[in-house]
Amino acid sequence: MERRAFLASGVLWGGALLAFTLAGCIPTPENNVSLPPSPQPTADPTPSAAGSRVLVAYFSRPGENYYYGDRIDLDVGNTQVIAEMIAAAASVDVYRIEAADPYPEGYDETVARNVREENENARPAIANPLPDTTGYDSVLLGCPVWNVQTPMIMRTFVENIELAGKIIHPFVTYAVSGMGRVRDDYARLCPGSTIGEGLAIQGETATQAQPDVASWLRRIGL
Ligand SMILES: Cc1cc2nc3c(=O)[nH]c(=O)nc-3n(C[C@H](O)[C@H](O)[C@H](O)COP(=O)(O)O)c2cc1C
Repeated sequence: MERRAFLASGVLWGGALLAFTLAGCIPTPENNVSLPPSPQPTADPTPSAAGSRVLVAYFSRPGENYYYGDRIDLDVGNTQVIAEMIAAAASVDVYRIEAADPYPEGYDETVARNVREENENARPAIANPLPDTTGYDSVLLGCPVWNVQTPMIMRTFVENIELAGKIIHPFVTYAVSGMGRVRDDYARLCPGSTIGEGLAIQGETATQAQPDVASWLRRIGL
């Protein structure tokens, strides 16, 4: 049963990956683009320990999720766990990306929706006002790995905030894929940004990731 669940997930991730490859990745006007509200000013950004200003922006989905080939019900999503560790360890501002149409509680339903969104090259709308990134030198972008890449809502986010001239440090949680194609996604979607060192944490181990988070933060100067 556990093995079946794992294989089913793998087949779906692989199938959608093929669809992604065939569809290409550059947004076009005919794509299903749903624009979020305009950027809003945020509170005065706090300088980080390194003297730069840092925004942590992340997407995470609580609910039923993958767990060592089986399923688990998460009150707090794995990526949120990592985002909170970062916020506890460094001087950063935090922005959570919330879907205007929330993702389902169920794992299979979420996989199916993600496949649809990838096939349509969709840009799912974001519910909350976007952050004003003026004044931030670095943005730590967090998300789960979905079908070996960024969830489509991360594309909505990076295409609608100003990231040119900034350093992006991706952080992800995953089940089996590591960072997958997430770095490449941001490099392509944010050509004016520098993609710095990322952090990939296996979702099942997120609550024990504090040492890895701390050493990554030190390496990137926070
Ligand atoms: C729609 C969907 C697709 C996923 N695709 C992958 C994948 O391709 N590779 C992988 O390692 N994990 C995949 N996972 C597992 C998640 O990346 C992992 O459970 C992650 O820690 C979830 O983070 P969150 O709780 O912050 O949403 C997928 C999960 C979902 C719901």
